[in-house]
Formats: sequence, structure tokens, C-alpha cells
Amino acid sequence: MHSYEDVKQDLVDNPKTWLVTGVAGFIGSNILEALLLLDQNVIGLDNFATGNTSNLDDVKTEVSSQQWNRFQFTRGDICNYTTCKEVTEGVDYVLHQAALGSVPRSIAAPIDSNAANITGFLNMLQAAKDVDVKSFTYASSSSTYGDHPALPKIEENIGNPLSPYAVTKCVNELYAEVFARTYGFKAIGLRYFNVFGKRQDPSGTYAAVIPKWTSAIINGDEVFINGDGETTRDFCYIDNAVQMNILSAVADDSAKDEVYNVAFGDRTSLNDLFSALIEALNQNSIDIRTKPTYRDFRAGDVRHSLADISKAKKILGYHPLFNISQGIQKAIPWYVKKLRNYQ
Ligand SMILES: NC(=O)c1ccc[n+]([C@@H]2O[C@H](COP(=O)([O-])OP(=O)(O)OC[C@H]3O[C@@H](n4cnc5c(N)ncnc54)[C@H](O)[C@@H]3O)[C@@H](O)[C@H]2O)c1
Repeated sequence: MHSYEDVKQDLVDNPKTWLVTGVAGFIGSNILEALLLLDQNVIGLDNFATGNTSNLDDVKTEVSSQQWNRFQFTRGDICNYTTCKEVTEGVDYVLHQAALGSVPRSIAAPIDSNAANITGFLNMLQAAKDVDVKSFTYASSSSTYGDHPALPKIEENIGNPLSPYAVTKCVNELYAEVFARTYGFKAIGLRYFNVFGKRQDPSGTYAAVIPKWTSAIINGDEVFINGDGETTRDFCYIDNAVQMNILSAVADDSAKDEVYNVAFGDRTSLNDLFSALIEALNQNSIDIRTKPTYRDFRAGDVRHSLADISKAKKILGYHPLFNISQGIQKAIPWYVKKLRNYQ
């Protein structure tokens, strides 16, 4: 096991070819940026179901033109196996992020979530196996813990899924296990816990809480808190999640055929999150008048979420560099700049 700094230096010295699916989305575009800054070759796949070309344009402004030229983009759907196979040819490491996120979206349209998250996942897993890539890392989710009451969440103890979305991520993990057992093709699953940071979409019904509230506060719109505000989440700044993807990709065989929590390992209530966002926006010269409005708890949501990250630390050398406050300090200026441009 090597430190993250050593791993990054090794990649700079020996560049590899990566496939990032869902590259036009929040996590995918941040992974793309990190990889290009390390002078890697990156192939990206996305169908723009929820991602946006503006995320790719944004990455382009963050890297040199030489680095940007190492990126090849394919617009395509993971539900098509031929597309998956074509983009995977010649790839060393696959980071599979493409999926339809959001618990409420999956409750409203389970068939769509199933297609992208299960059929699409299986296509990517099969393509990666057929092409014999060096590693396959995929986005799972903390939603796999479902109704299991224990806190903090430890990888081996999962409960019953509480939404169609959670079912899709549980099925991903089952397929990954079966591919290891049946074909000897060992993947790594990353159970993300509420990842946040720049380029996370603030718009639409299914936006995640941090960008949704940030945008509402900046625009002077109503901020809704589902329930009493004492629901807690383990908010994970994007750079920590990027680190886990890179560490997983290059991990030894003994670290594979496993799932890992991706979080900071601390929990924050929605009430405290609201206060932290107000404070950060105040520091960024936003005149705040918003007070939250409390409404019913949301179907499918778990009450508390907190990760035990010791497995990722021990096996992958994960060392999260940003807690929630540090992450908010880094993310908010980006939202202020972006959203003010639209006012
Ligand atoms: N953001 C989080 O906190 C979080 C938490 C748990 C799990 N995840 C998982 O992480 C991954 C990335 O999430 P995100 O927050 O970046 O979401 P996102 O919506 O910003 O990104 C997902 C990307 O996948 C693309 N996509 C969706 N369906 C596709 C298809 N059929 N073919 C090709 N591309 C497709 C979308 O267009 C989008 O660009 C997802 O698998 C999600 O389920 C995210």
C-alpha cells in the first residue's frame, strides 16, 4: 500500500488510460479534472441524462490545452453493450460512475433507474471483463445500508433496501461478487456517502441537499428541511471521493472484490448544515434573508448516516483531506460565481 501522493507521482511518471463513465456528471467531471491534471489519458462516456456539457467546459478551463487533448469523449448510453465495449477497448482502469442517482427519482421512475443502474452496470462490468482491463471500480452507495440500525455503518452489515435506487446499488454489488466468484474478475465498489462539491447540479427536483439549498439561498427562494432537521448525514467532500477512485484503481489484487465506504467519518445534522451554508455564503458577500421551512420527512430516506472508514484507510491507504467545513469553504465560492452569473 502506497500513500496517495506516491500513487499520484507514479501515475505522472507512468501515465495510464482511464475510462470514466458518467464523465459529464458531478463526480465524473471532478475525476476527469483530477486525472487530466495528472497527465493521464482519459476516455469519457455519458448520455447527458443528468450530466451537462457545461461540466466538461468547466474542466477544460481548469487544465492545460495539452492535458485537455488527452481527453476523448463519446456520447453514448451504457444500456448499449456495444458502446460499452467500444469505449473500454485499450483501457487500463475503469471508473464507472454513470447511473441515475437520487432516491426520490427512483421512487417516481423505478424502471428508468433499473435500466441505467442495473442493465447499464452489467454492460459495463461485462465489457470490462471481456476487454480484461486492469481494474474496475464502480459507484455504489450508502443507500445499500437500508434499514440496518447500526451506526457507524460497517461494510459487512447491510439491511433491507428502502428504495428502488438502493435495490439497484445492492444488485451492482451482487453482480460484482458473482463476477469475482464465477469469472475471477474482481471489481471494487465504492459506497459514497453524500458527496458534495463544485459542479454538483443545483437544479431540478432531484438535486442533492447542498447545491439545492445553496442555490435557493442565493436566489432568495424557500429552503425546505424534510423532517425536524435532526436527520444526519456523513457529508463527503468531492476530493476525498476522487482520492478513493484513484487509490481503488491502482490497488493490489488483495484489495479487490470488496466494497468500501467513501465518507469523512463524521455526521452533521441538516440544521447544522443549513447554518454552515449561511455562514459560508455570508463570508462570500451574499446577503442572506432565508429561514428554513420544515415539512414532512421524505419517503425512502434513512434517519442517520455515518460511515466507518477504517477499512478504506487500512486496505487502500485512504486519508480524507477535507472535512465538511473545509469542503464547504472550497465549494461555496464556485456556486456563488456560477449562480450569480445566472441572476
Ligand atoms: N453524489 C452523491 O452523493 C452520490 C452518493 C451515492 C452514490 N452516488 C453515485 O455516484 C455516481 C455519480 O453520481 P453523481 O452525483 O456524479 O451524479 P450525476 O447525475 O451528476 O452523474 C451521473 C452521470 O451519469 C450519466 N448517465 C446516467 N445514465 C447514463 C446512461 N444510461 N448512459 C451514460 N451515462 C449516463 C449522467 O448523464 C451523468 O452525467 C452515480 O452512480 C451515483 O449513483 C453518488
